[in-house]
Amino acid sequence: MTTNVPTIDLNSGTSIPQLGLGVWQASNEETEQAVQSAIDDAGYRHIDTAAAYGNEEGVGRALAAASVDRSELFVTTKLWNADQGFEPAKQAFDQSLSRLGLDYVDLYLIHWPLLDDDRLLRTWDALEEIAQSGRAKAIGVCNFEPRHLELLVNRGGTLPAVDQVELHPHLPQQEIRDVADRHGIVVESWSPLGGTSNSGWGKDSKPNTLLTDPLISRIGEQHGKSPAQVLIRWHLQNGLVVIPKSVNPDRIAQNIDVFDFELTDADLGDIATLNDGVRVGADPNEFNVGAPE
Ligand code: A2P
Repeated sequence: MTTNVPTIDLNSGTSIPQLGLGVWQASNEETEQAVQSAIDDAGYRHIDTAAAYGNEEGVGRALAAASVDRSELFVTTKLWNADQGFEPAKQAFDQSLSRLGLDYVDLYLIHWPLLDDDRLLRTWDALEEIAQSGRAKAIGVCNFEPRHLELLVNRGGTLPAVDQVELHPHLPQQEIRDVADRHGIVVESWSPLGGTSNSGWGKDSKPNTLLTDPLISRIGEQHGKSPAQVLIRWHLQNGLVVIPKSVNPDRIAQNIDVFDFELTDADLGDIATLNDGVRVGADPNEFNVGAPE
């Protein structure tokens, strides 16, 4: 199966498929099946995992069995909080590569900024070294607020290729997108469908309501598409990289079947009214779970 997913250029000189498969909260077995079905049946070429998801081995098994050459795939993983610091980050990266069964990843991300800026900068030193070794084709960050991005801009050297943040119509993250744009950093959306009902670590978090939102459903009916497909189109038309999570083969296929329709300006204007700034996940300004002592 060929795929018509557009790519976006990264500051590393590589490019990222704008739509990929997320696998948070999936077991190794579920992940293996989901990734296999995504690549071989649905035509995905971009998989997003993390050390903290505990399913890099499942991703690795599916990649090893896939009918597609490694060079056609884009694989992202992330450094867990407990491994921040210069040496710990390098060791954790080696372990991720080994669990994935790969000799390089396309993108390696710091999972959370945490509350210790000095350690964060040492961690970024390690990622820069990893990128220079060629074992991560690009490096980036997750959950960085404008102030964290400015920290790396002021440091000089390699800038993140990507900032992956919680982003959906309830939380469009315009300020982060503006800062990222100024510095050539691509923004990726996590929980792009509004997350799961058990994503809620944030103090203001609430269960996902986007997939059942009457406005999103109405727009979907007008285009003959599902609410999830409307939401995925919203990310694509906003120039964002989007990684909807699913372990269900039908939904995996449905989520990439989004290149035969377009949201109108009126649709986009209506969806903009859903912005209420409410997160489903943790607030990066406070989150310090797993931080080293
Ligand atoms: P499942 O894995 O059973 O498909 P997000 O990407 O925003 O974190 O959302 C993920 C949640 O949305 C998961 O609970 C996933 O469940 C569900 N989901 C993914 N794709 C679809 C879809 N096309 N329709 C309905 N629910 C979906």
